Amino acid sequence: MDTERIITNHVLEQDEQLDNSIRPETIDEYIGQKEVKENIKVFVEAAKMRNEPLDHVLLYGPPGLGKTTLAYIIARELGSNIKTASGPSIEKSGDLAAILSSLEPGDVLFIDEIHRMPRYIEEILYPAMEDFSLDIIIGGEGNSRNIKIELPPFTLVGATTRAGDLSSPLRDRFGIVSKLQFYTVEELTLIIERTSRVLSMPIIKEAAIELAKRSRGTPRIANRLFRRVRDFALVEGKKQIDLEIMQKALLRLGVDQSGLDETDHQLLYAIIHKFNGGPVGVEAIASSIGEEISTIEDVLEPYLLQQGFLKRTARGRIATQKAYEVLHLNYQNTIFQEDHFS
Ligand SMILES: Nc1ncnc2c1ncn2[C@@H]1O[C@H](COP(=O)(O)OP(=O)(O)O)[C@@H](O)[C@H]1O
Ligand SMILES: [Mg+2]
Repeated sequence: MDTERIITNHVLEQDEQLDNSIRPETIDEYIGQKEVKENIKVFVEAAKMRNEPLDHVLLYGPPGLGKTTLAYIIARELGSNIKTASGPSIEKSGDLAAILSSLEPGDVLFIDEIHRMPRYIEEILYPAMEDFSLDIIIGGEGNSRNIKIELPPFTLVGATTRAGDLSSPLRDRFGIVSKLQFYTVEELTLIIERTSRVLSMPIIKEAAIELAKRSRGTPRIANRLFRRVRDFALVEGKKQIDLEIMQKALLRLGVDQSGLDETDHQLLYAIIHKFNGGPVGVEAIASSIGEEISTIEDVLEPYLLQQGFLKRTARGRIATQKAYEVLHLNYQNTIFQEDHFS
């Protein structure tokens, strides 16, 4: 089994199909993220009452927490059409100008991975977001001139895994900035039960809870694992997913009791063994486990930090006692040895 793919950064093709087939469509079906949801409900309501477009929204947080889903829900709650683009796919300023000039009044423009848009293209967004105007230069050398095109009022919804990578002029132009949080076991259990209904594969409560505990707080991972476990159940001729098949499948998939998988283990192990438990910089960790820095920062670390396996200090990452425990290593001994030899 290819366990690496369970927490991969990339949205796999099968995932995309799965994501689309089980994506909740209304805000009430969207589980968890209580604060974000309540704010958005109020702002959407107010915008509708004023008959104005909703303020621009920036959604940020680790992959798989529901940013794209929420963007679609916002459009739906507004009763608007949504047009989508992604940061890396906008290569020329003309690409963005074309998208902007195709907008209809009240549309939602969703730009995924907005931090990956080049700065000179980003600048086109500033007047568009602020005054609904598009400043373009026409003509060639010597006789070029600026023209201003009026755009219809619209709402930009931007999604990013790295709010810190957004330039401040862009970030400041979002009226609503919401950070998505990792989901609790209870919330993930509800999400898994919903997926089970949508995919017509019953799951018993205990098995759903077990899966929820092992999904790194992330709905996409819960759904991805659900699909894998469903395959195990199918092959074994089970009509429903029970605790036994769940545990067996998770063991085969290399997911541990805390929901950490082999890549997480490698990372913690490297910090402990190669760097004496830290502090160590992310570059050194990346080269020692052969992962991209961005994968470590955006995908692996947020959950490890949130769960207290890692600590981030000015001098680098430190493995906590909990990290030693999850790897069945002796924390006391290591500390003792370190003191002894240093
Ligand atoms: N709050 C939620 N309630 C139910 N399912 C969710 C929720 N958030 C995400 N999901 C599920 O997880 C999948 C991944 O969510 P997505 O919006 O694509 O994440 P992101 O864009 O943040 O990477 C979706 O297909 C959806 O089925
Ligand atoms: Mg997305």
